[in-house]
Amino acid sequence: MALLRQLASERPEGSPLTVLDGLAGCGIRSLRYGLEAGATAVLANDADPQRRPLLERNLAPLPARGVAVEVRTSTIQKLLARCLLEERRFDWVDLDAFGGSTELLPLAIEAVRFDGVLYLASTDGRSFTGHDRRAALRRLGAAVRAQPCSWELALRLQLGAVARVAWSQGRGIRPLFSLSDGRTFRTAVAIRRHPAAGEEQQLGLTGYCHGCGDHRGASLLQLRPGALGRCPCGGDPVLSGPLWRGPLQDPGRLREAGRQVGPGTLAPASRRCLERLADDAGLPPEAWSQADLARRLGLGPPPLTVLLERLRTAGWQAGASGVAAGQFRTDAPWSAVLAAGAQRCSR
Ligand SMILES: C[S@@+](CC[C@H](N)C(=O)[O-])C[C@H]1O[C@@H](n2cnc3c(N)ncnc32)[C@H](O)[C@@H]1O
Ligand SMILES: [Zn+2]
Repeated sequence: MALLRQLASERPEGSPLTVLDGLAGCGIRSLRYGLEAGATAVLANDADPQRRPLLERNLAPLPARGVAVEVRTSTIQKLLARCLLEERRFDWVDLDAFGGSTELLPLAIEAVRFDGVLYLASTDGRSFTGHDRRAALRRLGAAVRAQPCSWELALRLQLGAVARVAWSQGRGIRPLFSLSDGRTFRTAVAIRRHPAAGEEQQLGLTGYCHGCGDHRGASLLQLRPGALGRCPCGGDPVLSGPLWRGPLQDPGRLREAGRQVGPGTLAPASRRCLERLADDAGLPPEAWSQADLARRLGLGPPPLTVLLERLRTAGWQAGASGVAAGQFRTDAPWSAVLAAGAQRCSR
């Protein structure tokens, strides 16, 4: 909501801000889009016709606040198809689905206005984290192998699916935020008129070596035989992808969104989450787990701040991941991370 409100604040005074809440449930998100985020029109849809009276009742306060409300009980597939036929587009399309929603992507992206936002939430943790590899292949068109930074993996796979569909329609993407609590994977992506220069570079593979804990990745454009082959430890990394290797967050926008939400308006946990995400754009694209490092060292986990400081002192970039607690990013090779971890532990 904070992000949509920030986007709304950038628009010329009086211009419309239209929202499609495609799997609206009881309509709580639609209500908040109208009351808190500056939406001027909300189309709230849920396939369950029994929800209509509840939706209508819950959204009844909006017209008095100047927000146009439309309630539908269509399947989202039919509704999006109708939007395409009617050339109807929205500034913000919200698909808060049970399971995944990759099959909806072509019509959903069509329904987003240029520079509008697609907000996706999926609960298909088993496929997206590599615990059901066949389902992952069917739903994402990607190889997915379980590894320690599983939330990050799931978010990047979801963004990779969005990028491929957007590109196939001649459009580009810019992730605004990506987050998970381990059950739901949420991404808000700006859909641009065209891909940015070099955007295709961001689609690639990521590898994880179960032998030593090393992570490595490569863009599909730079893939060479052996690029992600045998690990220096002698192990064969497991590979996942294609997935998005670009930024996961838009820190400037998230910071601005945080500034615009007055103190006390945002729950402390939500504000901390916003700040964590704004501090980590999501690059480099491989995240590492502190717990995995501790396991490799055979010692208790080194405090993250100490580890990151040691890596920075050694000349590497290093920062905490905003996606999951106890994870970090660095451009240091794994051998340097192991050395930094061991150094601290042997003090
Ligand atoms: C995860 S819930 C949505 C929760 C809601 N956004 C909220 O914040 O409370 C998913 C909803 O999608 C609806 N649904 C399931 N399949 C659908 C479909 N094909 N088209 C539209 N709605 C669907 C269900 O009735 C359910 O209310
Ligand atoms: Zn290895």
